[in-house]
Amino acid sequence: MKLVIGNQKAYLLKDDVLKFIENTKSKYCKDVIICPSFIYMDIYANKSNYILGSQNVSVTDRKNTTGEVNASQLKSCNACYAIVGHSERRLDQGEDASVFIKKINELSKEKITPIFCVGEGKEEKNTGITKDFIGKQLLDVLDNLEPSVIEKLIVAYEPVWAISTGAEPAETPTNEEINDVVCYIKDLVNDKYEVEIRVLYGGSVNKENIDHLNEIGIVDGYLIGGASTKADEFLYIMEKCCK
Ligand code: 13P
Repeated sequence: MKLVIGNQKAYLLKDDVLKFIENTKSKYCKDVIICPSFIYMDIYANKSNYILGSQNVSVTDRKNTTGEVNASQLKSCNACYAIVGHSERRLDQGEDASVFIKKINELSKEKITPIFCVGEGKEEKNTGITKDFIGKQLLDVLDNLEPSVIEKLIVAYEPVWAISTGAEPAETPTNEEINDVVCYIKDLVNDKYEVEIRVLYGGSVNKENIDHLNEIGIVDGYLIGGASTKADEFLYIMEKCCK
């Protein structure tokens, strides 16, 4: 069984969320994690069987932080997972390792599992430095975490160039390329911290490529963007991964 995590980003309006929940009712929902926009978390908690995740968390548990949502608030809404280090936040919000360390520690205090994203851009891929780049993204954060925190992490490998923008179909890596990078991540973490972590793949996972991707044994699951907002695609993926 593969872990399926839907990162719904900012794709859906409230009515779309209600329809999505209605149209994806299945026995698999209880094993699948959905990370909706904060404003819809309560809808998922009350109207669906999905496990709840968050797309973000505050760097601090301070209460006087306008517009932020802290880890204890997430916990009070039953969130069990949270995404940290997504490339869209690295690029749009300028977030970096120092921010991710704080966020991961905040989540860990509340026993919420961090899903830490890493991935190379087109430039790193083209210059052949993917592994060095990802290794640095990982170590800049993991070197500053307690072993008990590292143990609980899930890492998501998301090549930035493979993430759909909604505008045009993105390229995706070959299974061999994914396998190679996921092995590298697992080995690096194992060698350095003696921990076996789960590693997901993300970047244009959809109905068309899920059967092919499932052939990569070493991948523990998927972080899915666009296709996690389309009921028919998501149902198909759940069936293929959770049975
Ligand atoms: P897509 O599946 O839309 O390419 O997004 C991947 C992603 O960024 C998940 O976090």
